[in-house]
Amino acid sequence: MTTPDGSGAGTATAQPPWGSPQSGTLPMPQTLPVPQAPPLPAALAHLAGGSRYWLPEQPDRETATPPSAAAPSGGTPPTAPTPPAAPPAAPPGGFDVEAVRRDFPQLHREVNGRPLVWLDNGATTLKPRQVVEAVGEHYAMGTSNVHRGAHTLAKQATQVYEEGRQAAADLLGTPDQGEIVFVRGTTEAVNLVAQSWGRANLGVGDEILVSAAEHHSNLVPWQLIAAERRARIRPIPLLPDGQLDQDAYRDLLGSRTRMVALTHASNVLGTVPPVAEMTALAHRYGAKVLVDGAQAVSHFPVDVTALDADFYAFSGHKIFAPTGIGVLFGKRELLEAMPPWQGGGNMIDSVGFEETTYAPVPHRLEAGTGHIAGVAGLRAALQYLAALDREAATAYEEQLTAYAMAVLATVPGLRLIGNAPGKIGVLTFLLAGADPMALAGALDQQGIAVRAGHHCAQPALAAFGLQAAVRASLALYNTVEDVNSLVAALQDVQARSAAAAG
Ligand SMILES: Cc1ncc(COP(=O)(O)O)c(C=O)c1O
Repeated sequence: MTTPDGSGAGTATAQPPWGSPQSGTLPMPQTLPVPQAPPLPAALAHLAGGSRYWLPEQPDRETATPPSAAAPSGGTPPTAPTPPAAPPAAPPGGFDVEAVRRDFPQLHREVNGRPLVWLDNGATTLKPRQVVEAVGEHYAMGTSNVHRGAHTLAKQATQVYEEGRQAAADLLGTPDQGEIVFVRGTTEAVNLVAQSWGRANLGVGDEILVSAAEHHSNLVPWQLIAAERRARIRPIPLLPDGQLDQDAYRDLLGSRTRMVALTHASNVLGTVPPVAEMTALAHRYGAKVLVDGAQAVSHFPVDVTALDADFYAFSGHKIFAPTGIGVLFGKRELLEAMPPWQGGGNMIDSVGFEETTYAPVPHRLEAGTGHIAGVAGLRAALQYLAALDREAATAYEEQLTAYAMAVLATVPGLRLIGNAPGKIGVLTFLLAGADPMALAGALDQQGIAVRAGHHCAQPALAAFGLQAAVRASLALYNTVEDVNSLVAALQDVQARSAAAAG
């Protein structure tokens, strides 16, 4: 396999990277080699010799907290883990994780004196150098505004911009570029629909069904418009394993249902709801469905046509692209019927004091200068992804997720939240006796980046009686060694905690 620019020289190995299944022991975490810093992209060569912040750095010894600080005394004493009952199969040959890893410079830096283990992909993904180059080249050589210019650079920038739109349409499986609206991210996409579609379509007593697994950004915008229109939010409850309760959903649907707001993959439970089936049900009642794809798009192929989603939102930065750029897909007839959300340049046809008319979609919903460099980066990221064998990458992630769940289950005192079948690699957990924030800090001292807190999904955590938890989230460039490092670090925290307790 080669990586999208043909540089990935790695070949798939028949040997499972997690070691021999006959060994009977959990493979020891390996210290990842720290390769030479990759060469700078040509457009950024002027930075050579200057500040290159991904180079290995020294740990800040003064502020470093000893791992034992994470767990108060009385934590669960460590015991040797047993290996998962069924070792995962070898990764499919169509996906070469090592070749992909070579494209992500940040995977090769150190943090606190240790090789970085990036398990915070739910918050944001790392960027391949192709994306870094595309953004750098736009600013270094291609800076121009888009659409209105008659000069060469305006035409070139416009071409890149519209190719970015085409790449997003291809990613989501729509043949119509006009259904792709550029926004800042998922949050802005949901706010756009809530404020524009919602204001035009919601009335007193109308109902918006919102799953209890939603990120706040697919709940709070609905609360805001519901308060304004005197509509009502009704939660779709969760089952104990993190699935959405489909019986309750069927009972909630009714003649007052106008909108169903649904995650395509939960950022805290990993649950992947049956969106196509739920959408079909909603449509029987004439309701529209907005799908939050923020956590889905980087993990598995998405087809909005097959889902029959009315709206679909994602953020570029969670799919290897820059921050500040995202996409709202909307069915053309819905977008065309929606009143402009924001007014300004780019979104008009003609302006006069007596009358102003608006540009066709999607431009009518894109007031002002867009994030042109962000689209250049998004285009590069989506091209990068399109050149991979996505089915094989998804299969690899599924196997890694199954492995991670199995080995985490061997850590004494660890409670995993959410084990719905088919979940993505979002591993949210608690460790007995350990405060989640302190535990994340202790893992950071070992170079392992995870997130702790409420994950902007307080209702989902509340359904499990929790206010905070630790989350390790996987991406296609993570490895069994990453997972083993996490497990070993958790055991280390437990050992120190037990030692401190005497
Ligand atoms: C499921 C989900 N939806 C929405 C968002 C919000 O994304 P953004 O902050 O990029 O708008 C996130 C971010 O973590 C998320 O995980």
